[in-house]
Amino acid sequence: MCDFNVVKQRIDDLTKNSTAASAEIEFSHSQSVLSWVLRLKPDADSALRIAALGHDVDRSFGVRVQRSDFDSYDEFKKHHALRSAKIIVALLTELRCSDDVIKKTKYLIEHHEVGGQGDADVLKDADSLSFFDNNVEIYLQLYPRDFGKKVVFMYERLSSHAKSLISSINFKSKEMERIVKNIIQELES
Ligand SMILES: [Fe+2]
Repeated sequence: MCDFNVVKQRIDDLTKNSTAASAEIEFSHSQSVLSWVLRLKPDADSALRIAALGHDVDRSFGVRVQRSDFDSYDEFKKHHALRSAKIIVALLTELRCSDDVIKKTKYLIEHHEVGGQGDADVLKDADSLSFFDNNVEIYLQLYPRDFGKKVVFMYERLSSHAKSLISSINFKSKEMERIVKNIIQELES
């Protein structure tokens, strides 16, 4: 049945049971993106809420695709977004969601890295804010060489309103807050 809570339970089961290297944050990141979406847009519809929960769901299936498998960072990101959209479309079809919900959710997930029409920019902002709020520590542990570039990518794609919300984030350590804020300060100078 295409009820938001039923869809959420199914996506939560996937993200909680992730086998990827980043498994320990897949569930918390998905919940955190939903929280940021609801903070940015309290009346978010079910397509946007489902897209928030499921935008990275491909990472819950085994090996995470690697940047080195692709010619460019954009191609790598596009592959990830299309793969996640396909998994969520299959789930929503199985749960007999309406064509409108499926179409909008698919669009939002496919565009969550770059933004686009309608709510795609809300999802992109929420995803980046959650990166700073929830993912930075594990990202630094797993991908130390890419960390600086990742922070720049996640910050630069934020809207100006979302950039202003970075200061409200409680980083898990003062050291991480200092590292991230230094990178941002350098970008802004
Ligand atoms: Fe994400």
